[in-house]
Order: sequence, then C-alpha cells, then structure tokens
Amino acid sequence: KVKIVTIGGGSSYTPELMEGFIKRYEEMPIKEIWLVDIPEGEEKMNIVGAMAQRMWDASPYDVKVHLTLNRREALKDADFVTTQFRVGLLDARIKDERIPLSYGQLGQETNGAGGIFKAFRTVPVILDIVKDMKELCPDAWLINFTNPSGMITEAIIRYGHWNKVIGLCNVPVKSILDEPPMIGLKPEDCIFKFAGLNHFHWHRIWNAHTGEEVTLKVIDALFECDDKSAPENIFKIPYFKEQLYAMGMIPCGYHRYYYCEQEMLAHLIEEYQTIGTRAEQVREIERKLFELYKDPNLNYKPEELAKRGGAHYSDAACETIVSIYANKNTHIVVSTKNNGAVPNLPSDCVVEVSAYIGRSGPLAIAFGDLPSAQKGWLQVMKNMELTVLEAAVKGDYGLALEAFTVNPQIVSGGDAKHILDELFIAHKKYLPQF
Ligand code: NAD
Ligand code: G6P
Ligand code: MN
Ligand code: MN
Repeated sequence: KVKIVTIGGGSSYTPELMEGFIKRYEEMPIKEIWLVDIPEGEEKMNIVGAMAQRMWDASPYDVKVHLTLNRREALKDADFVTTQFRVGLLDARIKDERIPLSYGQLGQETNGAGGIFKAFRTVPVILDIVKDMKELCPDAWLINFTNPSGMITEAIIRYGHWNKVIGLCNVPVKSILDEPPMIGLKPEDCIFKFAGLNHFHWHRIWNAHTGEEVTLKVIDALFECDDKSAPENIFKIPYFKEQLYAMGMIPCGYHRYYYCEQEMLAHLIEEYQTIGTRAEQVREIERKLFELYKDPNLNYKPEELAKRGGAHYSDAACETIVSIYANKNTHIVVSTKNNGAVPNLPSDCVVEVSAYIGRSGPLAIAFGDLPSAQKGWLQVMKNMELTVLEAAVKGDYGLALEAFTVNPQIVSGGDAKHILDELFIAHKKYLPQF
C-alpha cells in the first residue's frame, strides 16, 4: 500500500485530492496520507485536514490522514510527494499583483513581475524539499503543482538534480473535458496533442473515430461560448480568430496576456482600482470555503471550490500518480524534460507536453515544429524562465533585472527597476538567497 505526502496540506484544494484518491482507491490502495504545513498554515491545515479525514471516513476505505508541521517525519519512506504550497501565503500574492499594477504594469500570479517573484520565493524551498527527499524517500516521485509550475519543475531537475518529477497544471485538463462537447463529442472520442510551456502551451485535436482534425471546428466553437474551457481566474477577452486560424492551434487561456496584452492589462488595472486583484477576490472565496470546511457534517468536496482557477487539479494529480503506480500509460499533459518532443527547444529543458504516463514516468509525444511566430515566443519565454531560475539560485540582483528585461510583460526602464526593488523589500523575509 502507498504512502502519500502532500506539502502545503492546508490548501483549500486538499479535498480535491482526497476525492481523486477515493475515486481511484481500487486501482491504487493507500496506506496513509500525510499533510504537511508550516506554523502560519496550521489552522488552515487543521480545518481542511479534519474535513479530509471525514471524506475518507465516509468512504468504504480505511485511510488515516496525518497532519504535521514536521516535513521530515512525513517524508520518511513516502512513495509519492505532491506539492501545493504557497510561500508567503496569499498576502505575498497580493503584493505580487498590486505592486506592478500600481505602476500600470501586469500584476498576475504566474506572469510578469509577480510570477518571477513567486519563483524567487519558491525555489529555495523546493530545493530544500528535494534535499530531504534524497535522504528520506530516494525512490519517491515528486508531483509538483506549486506555481510557477513549469519553472519549479525545471528548478527541481536542473538545480535539484532530481529526475523523478512531474509538473502539473489543470488548464489542459479543462480543455480536454470542456472542448469535445462543444462539437458534439466526448473527451474519449478525441485525440489531443499539446506542446509548449506551462501556461504557454497550444494544442490540436482530432476525431478519434474518423481521424479528421477538428482543431478549427473547436476554435469556432470556442468563439461561440466565450471560451468557457479557460480557467475561472482568467478574464475571457476574445482572441483574434484570424490569428488562431493562421497558427492552426488552440492557445491556452494564459496566452491572452501576450496576444491581447492591452485589453488584459486594462482589465487588471480596472479590477485593481475597484474590486481588488484576483488574489484579493480569492481571499474572499477562500474565507467562504474554510467556513464550509468547518462544518462537521460536510464530508464531500463542495461546489464552491469550482470558483477557484485550479478546479479539476486532482484529475491531473491523482491520475498521474495512479498511472505510474498501475502502469496505465494514460495520456496526461505534464511538465517534463523535453527530450526532443518540442524540436524548437533544447532537449534538456522542461516543456509542457502530451505524454503517456506509466511505471517509468512520462513518455512525451513529439509535437513537431511550431510555426515561426510561436517558435519565437517559445525562445523568449523559455530563456526568460532560465534567467529567472539562475537569478533565483545565485541570488543575483543583476540577473533578476535581466529576467525582468527579457520578460515580455515588463516594460524595461526606471519603473521596472522600482517594481523590482519594491518587490524585493516586500518579500525580503522569503528571499534569503538575495
Ligand atoms: P495557499 O495560499 O492556500 O497555500 C497552501 C498552503 O501552503 C498554506 O496552508 C500554506 O501555509 C502552505 N505553505 C506555505 N509555505 C510552505 C512551506 N514552506 N512548506 C509547507 N507548506 C507551506 O495556496 P493555494 O491557493 O491552495 O495554492 C497552492 C499552490 O498551488 C500555489 O503555489 C498555487 O500557485 C498552486 N496552484 C497551481 C495550479 C496549477 O495549475 N499548477 C492551480 C492552482 C494553484
Ligand atoms: C489556474 C491555473 C493555476 C493558477 C490558478 C489560479 O487555472 O492553472 O496555475 O494558479 O488557476 O486560480 P486562483 O483561483 O487562485 O486565482
Ligand atoms: Mn496552472
Ligand atoms: Mn521586458
């Protein structure tokens, strides 16, 4: 039987994970689940941890959910370690979003200056976790959900020298679930092929019965429904249809920040000045969720969790874990080492691609050459990510400025340097390396 450890156990997403494991218990029997958090998250973990235990108690299975602040105790002999932590909690995200927006620049969880600082804060913690895993559970798989998920996965491989890692995101899951019905099909009637980077991937779709490519049909359908397959947290400015037809691929929801930069920025600034940034909206959703979780009669995942952008996360996480355990070779979109799947990027960097997941981990599918415009974006974005990680590991201010300069969302110059300096001051406590 399997031992699961979840770091950042106090997350409001924990019931998703429990639901996913309960659903798949017959395929993968679990011995115990350990939720790990830090003192600042202890109260959240106690509430959601009790709820998690109630979910198991309401199931036919006998699984104990352990709650601990002692990560090393939890990691001992783990089979699978999942990460869903947020260094600095939601307060840090509020600063990541508000500070750049106060200069009229993009403030977003995983993009622009905020995304870069989320990486700066997370890299030291994740490398520490990898160090513990080498000692305490050297055969375990690390399933990373912590954002920026692609960059963190790259840090684990490149700087942690740990290869048994898979990075996940719920965005491809939503596309796979929501898009086939738009053209009268079911997910199992379709073949999907994804490639790119986390929050920067494209995909194509075929009819599995006829072999016909249906990508353009889905593009038409997406325009008719205001792109309801994109996650909750993204404002659905319509793309330019001619542009999607020309690329012959469906961009992910996050490409809006790059293809419709002007409108997205205007929208974020308006929210910042009125109802508050997404992190401030999430604070309210989360408060309500934890009120629900406190109810001693609640023993299932409440509907309200669907208001969070990460809905369906457990479909990716639990299915990945069970696919490894039971050698299922399921198609899952993962962040993993490229190995030629995206020929326009180096073999040793992390990409987000369609892969078949089995005992040995992900076998990525070759996507083939991308069109020139997208090839250009990929070079910029991957090298931006690598610059962010080098800065994060070395704690080098000049490299941090380089990362800001190459990031397409940050207008270079004096304001950029002010944003950088303000973020350094705001997050000082979580940036020991700088
Ligand atoms: P959250 O603010 O609820 O944080 C989760 C928990 O992490 C908290 O209880 C907190 O105390 C804990 N934590 C903070 N630092 C820690 C540390 N050093 N060790 C252990 N625990 C620590 O966050 P959330 O909204 O539930 O999101 C969790 C993470 O998942 C974030 O990084 C978020 O960006 C990410 N996420 C990823 C996706 C995806 O598609 N990959 C989707 C949604 C959320
Ligand atoms: C998603 C993304 C996540 C992101 C989240 C934000 O769809 O895939 O990586 O962190 O939504 O959701 P939130 O509800 O926290 O704004
Ligand atoms: Mn994501
Ligand atoms: Mn720039």
